[in-house]
Amino acid sequence: MYTVFFVGTAGSGKSTLVSTLSTWMEDQGFDVGIVNLDPAVEYLPYVPDIDIRDRISARKIMKQFKLGPNASIIAAVDMIVTEAERIKEEMEIIGAPIYLIDTPGQMELFAFRQSGAYLVQKLSDVHTLVVYVADAVYAQSVDGFAVTMLLALSTRIRFKKPQILVINKSDLLSEDVRINILNWVEDPTTLLESIDLPPYEKEILRSVANMGGFIEPLFVSAKTSEGIDKLYYQLQLHYTGGEDVQ
Ligand code: GTP
Repeated sequence: MYTVFFVGTAGSGKSTLVSTLSTWMEDQGFDVGIVNLDPAVEYLPYVPDIDIRDRISARKIMKQFKLGPNASIIAAVDMIVTEAERIKEEMEIIGAPIYLIDTPGQMELFAFRQSGAYLVQKLSDVHTLVVYVADAVYAQSVDGFAVTMLLALSTRIRFKKPQILVINKSDLLSEDVRINILNWVEDPTTLLESIDLPPYEKEILRSVANMGGFIEPLFVSAKTSEGIDKLYYQLQLHYTGGEDVQ
């Protein structure tokens, strides 16, 4: 059983990407399962095979314990931990060869807390991968791109899993901006020259970049399906060395 976690900042398009990729895979004849781990989402663009909201709802927790929106999501994610074993069993019973796992909207409430890392560990077999979903609108500026790289790196440190970095909403990017982004990855000095930072912070960023902290992104659009085939091939390459994931 292969698992792919979709993690990213609020509104970066995780759910839409899960929907588009699963539809694309189904159209190609692949069997794919979807797990929704977001206890607070109101609307999903796909029909999940397993939906955490059937067991734990942030909205109900908010009312029951009189918590604010973030505190109720934190409490909900902590509660999901107690369901992890059952979710895994259910995934095995459904028997899909690959599961796309959508994670809570505000990534810091999932990625930077112990319970999120535990869930990724628990629901992972040997074969797991994290897709870090960055927002193209944010990543197109030098500052936004640097922060995106650092957030993706933090997620890698947190989950300790192989990662693919996608820049979603690429339909909103001009060709020039794409070239800029690729240049920043290939030659980080071009980014460091144009970023406005105090010398010490710039040196930290330079070290991160020189150590390979800027990884090449895949441009995708969950809206137009651009790059979805390439994303699938990356998954395939990771899991089976190029064979279909059946
Ligand atoms: P939360 O879980 O609520 O944080 O959001 P999310 O990361 O799951 O994002 P979601 O899929 O809900 O998308 C957020 C908004 O971005 C929606 O209005 C989507 O229609 C839009 N969106 C998602 N993907 C794309 C894309 O590739 N291009 C464009 N232009 N918009 C997109």
